[in-house]
Amino acid sequence: RQVALPQNKNLPPVVFHYIPWFGSAAYYGEDPYKFFFECRDKYGDVFTFILMGRRITVALGPKGNNLSLGGKTSQVRAEDAYTHLTTPVFGKGVVYDCPNEMLMQQKKFIKSGLTTEALQSYPPLIDDECEEFFDHELGLSKTKKSTVKVDLLKSMSELIILTASRTLQGKEVRAGINGKFAQYYEDLDGGFTPLNFMFPNLPLPSYRRRDKAQKAMSDFYMKIIEDRKKGETDHEHDMISSLQGSVYKDGVPLTDRDISHIMIALLMAGQHTSSATSSWTLLHLADRPDIQEQLYQEQINYFKKSDGTLGPMTYESIKELPLMDSIIRETLRMHAPIHSIYRKVISDIPVPPSLASPSEQQSYIIPKGHFILAAPGVSQMDPRIWSNSTTWTPERWLEEKGVGQTAVETYTKSEQVDYGFGSVSKGTESPYQPFGAGRHRCVGEQFAYTQLSTIIAYIVRHYTLKLEVPTFPETNYRTMIVLPKNPQVSFTLRKQEV
Ligand code: HEM
Repeated sequence: RQVALPQNKNLPPVVFHYIPWFGSAAYYGEDPYKFFFECRDKYGDVFTFILMGRRITVALGPKGNNLSLGGKTSQVRAEDAYTHLTTPVFGKGVVYDCPNEMLMQQKKFIKSGLTTEALQSYPPLIDDECEEFFDHELGLSKTKKSTVKVDLLKSMSELIILTASRTLQGKEVRAGINGKFAQYYEDLDGGFTPLNFMFPNLPLPSYRRRDKAQKAMSDFYMKIIEDRKKGETDHEHDMISSLQGSVYKDGVPLTDRDISHIMIALLMAGQHTSSATSSWTLLHLADRPDIQEQLYQEQINYFKKSDGTLGPMTYESIKELPLMDSIIRETLRMHAPIHSIYRKVISDIPVPPSLASPSEQQSYIIPKGHFILAAPGVSQMDPRIWSNSTTWTPERWLEEKGVGQTAVETYTKSEQVDYGFGSVSKGTESPYQPFGAGRHRCVGEQFAYTQLSTIIAYIVRHYTLKLEVPTFPETNYRTMIVLPKNPQVSFTLRKQEV
């Protein structure tokens, strides 16, 4: 591969490619991290590549992340990059199908639904779902089988949707999971692929199924809201009841349709991200029986009661389990579910000389019309920032002076900014951003940690895990979310349970 010179010296260098329109699509699509690290070696932290006719400028490293995630709304827009993918799935009027100012208020409404009180009510419900799933679905119990082999990603996808629907989504959604809802979800999910991202409208059956499912799913939520208004169902600690009655700053209320579409957006936002994270975490535990055992001991030390039984996981306890926290944190470092975060550039962005080309002191412009891509996963696995950057090392988060910890502390002590949905740590120059940063930062982090910690605690309390493939699973980058390939694992009841 040769090094191409920039066509214009004020623009970032363009990654060499053979086929003009297709550009680097195959190279990037197959393994984006290999692509990013190799390009960084050749071109520096800022470079442009061609992706099926689009000009994508990648800005790497903590300072590069800041250019897009910390960019002003006059320079970069998420809605212009994502709406063609998300609006046919979520529905109209919300998230990226409205001005950013409205999305900021919608995130505030969502945050109000994720109160401490709501989050406190979730672990027992999640625990219940786990028991039901492992005992009834997988048939793992003293009276049935003591070992089962599963496709971990498939099992975790089921468990995540069961637990999310039982808690955040509401009991009517949970009740619908075994019926039509599952089909709507599957068809809608079929519209959330890299193909849909590149080509918003193709005359394919999957696109038609997506559109039909969007309408059906939206009507399903509308019916729940209408029934609740008639008083036919109890109100719960869930997101629908929290969103009802939300009013924008200008006095306009959220419509029932808006609520339905926000609920679909939340379902989709949490489903693959958390299924992937729980799968990767459990795969690493299966690969490291020593840490599995330490995690089990952490449960015993913290929860063992005088009668020898273990007390229930609670929302408060999650913050007091350092190893549990570290294994999730470390998994998200190495397997950030979202490898590329896009924004459309709507006015030229000057790239500081220090970032663009330290040797030549040359300034670049990322011009209007390009997309700017942040890849937090690159800084999260950068050997210049983290020791043993490609090895799963949860201990690094326990060591006070570990390389990673120090770097993260240095970068995350950044200013607090109010984006209109509550004050958040801007963190746009952090080398650790699995939940993004800045105004589009994830609002689901606390929910995700509650859900993941409770599920993982349930599993280590009851079972031991073993990899059922000869080598640790590789990564599939061909989906929207970074997933493990062929994640075969066995669950065995712990000795005292058999
Ligand atoms: C935004 C990651 C779970 C709802 C984001 C972003 C990332 C992310 C990287 C920023 C996207 C961007 O800047 O374009 C994750 C991970 C999760 C997770 C790693 C789990 C391990 C959830 C859950 C929910 C959720 C459970 C809902 C309950 C959202 C929402 C946004 C968001 C509403 C805001 C989008 C925006 O402002 O543009 N998430 N997420 N996420 N996430 Fe999550």
